[in-house]
Amino acid sequence: MIKEYIDINRQRFLDELFDLLRIPSISADSAYNEDVVKAAEFIKAKLIEAGADKVELFPTEGHPIVYGEKIFDPSLPTVLVYGHYDVQPAVPLELWDTPPFEPTIRKTEVHPDGAIFARGACDDKGQVYMHVKAFEYMMKNNKLACNVKFMIEGEEEVGSPNLGPFCIKNKEMLKADVVLISDTSMIANDIPSIDSGLRGLSYVEVEVTGPNRDLHSGVYGGAVANPINILAKMIASMHDENNHITIPGFYDQVLELTADERTALNKAPFDLEAYKKDLNIGDVWGETGFNTLERTGIRPTLDCNGIWGGYTGEGSKTVLPSKAFAKISMRLVPNQDSHTITEIFKKHFESIAPAGVKVEVRPHHGGEPVVTPIDSVAYLAAEKAMETSFGKTPIPTRGGGSIPIVALFEKELGLKSVLFGFGLDSDALHSPNEHYGIFNYLKGIETIPYFYENFAKMKAN
Ligand code: BES
Ligand code: MN
Ligand code: MN
Repeated sequence: MIKEYIDINRQRFLDELFDLLRIPSISADSAYNEDVVKAAEFIKAKLIEAGADKVELFPTEGHPIVYGEKIFDPSLPTVLVYGHYDVQPAVPLELWDTPPFEPTIRKTEVHPDGAIFARGACDDKGQVYMHVKAFEYMMKNNKLACNVKFMIEGEEEVGSPNLGPFCIKNKEMLKADVVLISDTSMIANDIPSIDSGLRGLSYVEVEVTGPNRDLHSGVYGGAVANPINILAKMIASMHDENNHITIPGFYDQVLELTADERTALNKAPFDLEAYKKDLNIGDVWGETGFNTLERTGIRPTLDCNGIWGGYTGEGSKTVLPSKAFAKISMRLVPNQDSHTITEIFKKHFESIAPAGVKVEVRPHHGGEPVVTPIDSVAYLAAEKAMETSFGKTPIPTRGGGSIPIVALFEKELGLKSVLFGFGLDSDALHSPNEHYGIFNYLKGIETIPYFYENFAKMKAN
């Protein structure tokens, strides 16, 4: 039935998603504030069309939150669908083969049926829109045996600064049994998987200041500390020869997996050669004693995300710069705490700076790691739904990315989440040429109604 519905409506499902993808809802750049609101209005209109009630844009100090619901009977189980309609910046534009906000379909090796190329195609507009279309189908065909609430935000890509307070203020409205989120990846199109955890994040910006002005690099070079040289060395020193992070205490809270848990994690198929080929790298890199799945799933990391300072214009300008800057992210695993990690980073960073420079560490947004249960009714409903649509049992995996609000759902709303993602890690999220497989988009729409059906039945028993 759902398959027929998808066949009949395939083109319209694509056209509507394309309309959403054309709106450049970049949350990080205030030049796009109006477009962010347009994307919110678009989701609102489509939720109303599909049959949701009480659909509203809740304004925040930042971008609005779209809320809508369909309550059949308060005694039925309730699913809270969370996702985000904002996207990452698309720069540098010249690295895109087609413009980021003019969606186009192209075939790729892993998407032989075609993929939609656009910023936000996979992260997260394509995945959010699957839920809107699955809801439309269930409403039209009287298939919904649960209550549904939708909460789609516009600030996920900037750390969800206003969603936490919104949740705390609206606990009653958001009452539910589980949060359903499609904003993660599967292993491959023929290997479905469900993330059973996400890493946390600690994000800082650092500033290293040397002399009070840019200096002539001939007159002063060699006699005054160069902030860029120093910063580069400080960053490099934060990994040792085994690529362990050298910040004292960094690993103290890390939850080590038991041998059994580690074996289970490594049951997930992983093709190292395909991984290297996709990234065009000669070899992988990382912490000694752990493989790639472990390095991204269960181990914490430290990465410089950007570094700048001095002269970077055309030609040369011989200066010893006054300042150097960097943005640094640390991915965290259970039971690390982002505030503690930010604190010890700051202490360490200040302690390794030589006397010739001053340093400042500015914390940005953070988020806590989460583990989601794989024996809950909601997980089992999701597992069975994928079994039906893919013909294979999904494998539980650990996602390397972060969705900081998930920990807050647990802490403040008492709700566990199911990370029901249909993207692929190779879909170039946050990169140029982001895309989402048409197969994945339609498979998501097909699978979601099975989840509701299973969840309602399993909850009733
Ligand atoms: N959808 C991603 C997170 C993700 C991607 C998890 C793939 C698992 C697999 C999300 O939109 C994201 O990019 N989160 C940011 C969080 C940050 C901006 C606070 C991240 O992980 O960098
Ligand atoms: Mn996302
Ligand atoms: Mn993202």
